[in-house]
Amino acid sequence: MDPIRNPYSPGAGTQPPELAGRDEVREQVRIAIERIAIGRSAKSVLMIGLRGVGKTVLLDRMKLDAEAAGHQTLRAEAPEDRSLPSILAPQLRQALLRLSRVESAKNLANRALAGLAGFAKALKVKYDDIEVGLDFDPEPGLADNGDLESDLQDLLEAVGQAAQAGGKALVIFIDELQYVAGDQLASFITALHRTSQRQLPVLLVGAGLPQLPGRMGKAKSYAERLFDFPFLGPLKCDQAAAALVNPAREEEVEFDPKALDLIIRETEGYPYFLQEWGKHAWDCADESPISLRDCEDASHLATAALDESFFRVRFDRMTPSEKRYLRAMAELGAGPHRSGDIAEVMQREVQSLAPVRSKLIAKGMIWSPSHGDTAFTVPLFDQFMKRTMPSLS
Ligand SMILES: Nc1ncnc2c1ncn2[C@@H]1O[C@H](COP(=O)(O)OP(=O)(O)O)[C@@H](O)[C@H]1O
Ligand SMILES: [Mg+2]
Repeated sequence: MDPIRNPYSPGAGTQPPELAGRDEVREQVRIAIERIAIGRSAKSVLMIGLRGVGKTVLLDRMKLDAEAAGHQTLRAEAPEDRSLPSILAPQLRQALLRLSRVESAKNLANRALAGLAGFAKALKVKYDDIEVGLDFDPEPGLADNGDLESDLQDLLEAVGQAAQAGGKALVIFIDELQYVAGDQLASFITALHRTSQRQLPVLLVGAGLPQLPGRMGKAKSYAERLFDFPFLGPLKCDQAAAALVNPAREEEVEFDPKALDLIIRETEGYPYFLQEWGKHAWDCADESPISLRDCEDASHLATAALDESFFRVRFDRMTPSEKRYLRAMAELGAGPHRSGDIAEVMQREVQSLAPVRSKLIAKGMIWSPSHGDTAFTVPLFDQFMKRTMPSLS
């Protein structure tokens, strides 16, 4: 069928034609934002899930929701090698500049901008990647100690006061939070704790890999009380079906039920895979309904496409010893697996593999669901590893 009309959209962070199965968590976040906007308490929300499950697109959708409801937002992503202050500062500045155009918030927004200037100046020594335009001179004593923990508290408090004066919530959206270094995470948690204690309308809505709750708890033991960690899993059968069927129906195209069953089975309901399969099924079909045969052809093409993109970009970032570790895990199946069992496959001592395992966790490739257990953060990665490295060594 006409590839120009193909509605499916595989790709990291690419909005799907139908955002299936996420209404509940969207509503949870909407309620939290509206509550803090009127001075009630609400926990910040950190969505966790494997790669390709739809965290980024959901975060973006929630940001649009919040803006449509009139709130201030900022959006950042934590890359592996940047400091938290450096990713927050420019975004905070923009949010404050917008707030300063609200008459009732103007003075406090300008004060927070002065705070930001002091913050950036004082912390530049330690975090030399901070780059932010300064609109005001620093206010001596405001967020300018040069200590992230206390300065971020001061700064977020000043920002929260400005938002409060403007009668709006300020919602901080941050993706890939698992990459934020432990001490910076701890400072961020402390700062959010302060704004919540002061009932200031600041909320964090974040996303990260499944290791995030553990990292947060390690950074600050009270993090669990401050945050909700909704788990985004694969879509249930009816949701996965909706993700495929509804966009096609918009184009007056149907799926044969058997074709649909095949796609749901092969993708296990993972959103990224659903988009990839949907796209290829559409392209393989000559007419509606999309048939089982079309989907069988699509399976090969979708798998090949994933192998060259979704899986490949992750694989290429691994060193040879990391690849061997992942391949040994794959030998045991989807997982999770005991570290001892993985070592046994590799005919090595568990201890000697600990550094490789730590590296893989830091790179966000694997995580530890419970002590001594290891699992992939990318769904179906075990099958990819076997395809791409047929033998163990
Ligand atoms: N709820 C959903 N329904 C259908 N497709 C989705 C859904 N969420 C995400 N997708 C699709 O899955 C892919 C991956 O989404 P993304 O947000 O990048 O995942 P993550 O950030 O968790 O790795 C994108 O192609 C997106 O269009
Ligand atoms: Mg993402």
